[in-house]
Amino acid sequence: MQTMIVANWKMNKLRSDAVDFLSTLTEWVDSLDDKLGEYGVGLAIAPPATLLDLAVESNVPACIMAQTMHEAEFGAFTGEISAPMLADLGVGGVVLGHSERRQYFNETDVALDAKVLSALRHRLFALLCVGESLDERNAGQAEAVVRRQLATALRSSVDAGATLPWKRLMIAYEPVWAIGTGEAATPKQAQQMHEVIRAVLNELLPEHAATTPILYGGSVKPENAKELLSLPDVNGALIGGAALDVDSYIGIAKAGMVVGAAV
Ligand code: PGA
Repeated sequence: MQTMIVANWKMNKLRSDAVDFLSTLTEWVDSLDDKLGEYGVGLAIAPPATLLDLAVESNVPACIMAQTMHEAEFGAFTGEISAPMLADLGVGGVVLGHSERRQYFNETDVALDAKVLSALRHRLFALLCVGESLDERNAGQAEAVVRRQLATALRSSVDAGATLPWKRLMIAYEPVWAIGTGEAATPKQAQQMHEVIRAVLNELLPEHAATTPILYGGSVKPENAKELLSLPDVNGALIGGAALDVDSYIGIAKAGMVVGAAV
């Protein structure tokens, strides 16, 4: 399975910053002579909505993803963007259910259920984020929370079944307490939860569980990326802070290459 290295820029960067980042990244990938693919590393970048067009047009060798979208296709939803609009723009995928969307914008598991279905129907890569808060972990609820988030957000897609492009589903485990804190989950904590996620996928989507990438997110940086990416059920990383700087993002992609070369 490919190791996906996904940059989540959140609400950061203006056009000139994005141009610099994308051109440096493109130069680096070009200098590798296809080695990224050889080592099974795939790149994706989720810029803010204002930079999606620029990123797509830049032809950077990365999947360009939105950071959120509305579940309806069109309609009176001021300020929102839908799956057909993203596809029309040439965007390749969308991050769904990031904890900041859940926390600050009231994104619910029920809305996410419809969003995952809409994204897949429009052939976008759907990167569904799940993860428990610190209180939930301390209360011994981490596994139950992640199970519930997955089961609810995938329900309609599972019902829709065989017609969906399941190869475009990706999951990210992002413990809320590790996001932006500098404190990543330990390899043991990450692997344990990724195993749980794989088991839930096995229950919901037995034919696709083994091939659905499960990314880890939460304080991934060049220094800890190799250890996290080497874990058996970690198939990539979703990176916030450390993906704002192109050299740091490249450092994480290089860690992915080292892991891929060792396989
Ligand atoms: P972080 O963010 O890498 O800054 O912890 C991860 C994320 O929110 O996706």
